[in-house]
Amino acid sequence: MSEKLVFITSRIPKIGLELLTAANIVYKQWPYERKITKQELIENVRDCSILFNVGSNQLDKEFFKACPKLELVSLLSVGYDHVDVSAATQYRIPITNTPGVLSKATADTAFLLMLAVSRKAFYQHKKILKGKWQKKIPTDILGIELHNKTLGIFGLGRIGLEMAKLCKGAYNMEIIYHNRNRNEDAEDLLNARWVSFEDLLKQSDVLSVHSQLSEETKGLFDYRVFSQMKDSAIFINTSRGAVHNEEDLIKALEDGQIWGAGLDVTNPEPMAPDNPLLEMESVAVLPHIGSATVETRNEMVKLAVQNIIAKINNESLLTCINPEVMELT
Ligand code: 8YV
Repeated sequence: MSEKLVFITSRIPKIGLELLTAANIVYKQWPYERKITKQELIENVRDCSILFNVGSNQLDKEFFKACPKLELVSLLSVGYDHVDVSAATQYRIPITNTPGVLSKATADTAFLLMLAVSRKAFYQHKKILKGKWQKKIPTDILGIELHNKTLGIFGLGRIGLEMAKLCKGAYNMEIIYHNRNRNEDAEDLLNARWVSFEDLLKQSDVLSVHSQLSEETKGLFDYRVFSQMKDSAIFINTSRGAVHNEEDLIKALEDGQIWGAGLDVTNPEPMAPDNPLLEMESVAVLPHIGSATVETRNEMVKLAVQNIIAKINNESLLTCINPEVMELT
């Protein structure tokens, strides 16, 4: 039996536990429904060599310092804004994530929000629940169509590419994007056009955010930015809530600077039930379900376990965020 002890911070799909057991890997698991606190995380990981981290637990310098036996952090997420990667590297701890396997499911969520917002679907549903089925007056409760409109992607990587494919296929949308680097796959496959950030704001009918949360993107979508968008535009965010400023988004919608918004991510999460966004006509909010499908969660768990097995067998990690750490060990 392997001596390496894995700590898992939450319940996970059973395929993950089966794979760990089949590989003779000893694990312990956080048994409660509530989120583990920072102190409890340290207490549990202190004696472990591997952390299997689910969700947004903050893994900062203090954490790495307090867990000297740690040899690997395997994240069950593609995003790693909750990890101080340079501190991990300093403590010679590789961090792995789960890119690729969740791209289609997350793009589906962005597409679902876009369509729901365009027809005010969540708002209409809430009205039925309140016994207020709307009379059919021809000028009332009108949505907007998506056919042949322009989709702007901010951060065109794997997930953005899947969203662009869906929008091209379903609505023949024109694809524009803004990235630091050109995405030639998207340009070849979908005729996507790189544009400046200002042009992305000006030209997008739907602007979908797929970037990482970083110092550069934190709070980027604020009132000033929203006011440069079309007043008929739909803003979609399935990346991280902190990329947009929520108060500014509310004001931009109230002032008619943009037409609608679809959010799978909020700041903070969970969103307070009395948040004004939840009562707005052309707004749809979901509780961060981007990767939450049976198929995708199974694939994420498999990849996270494969990284653990690779570490234990001294093989190359499949998806390491800080590969430079290997040169230090
Ligand atoms: C995760 C996510 O599934 O992968 C990400 O970055 O935001 C989510 O899809 C969630 O954080 C569970 O770990």
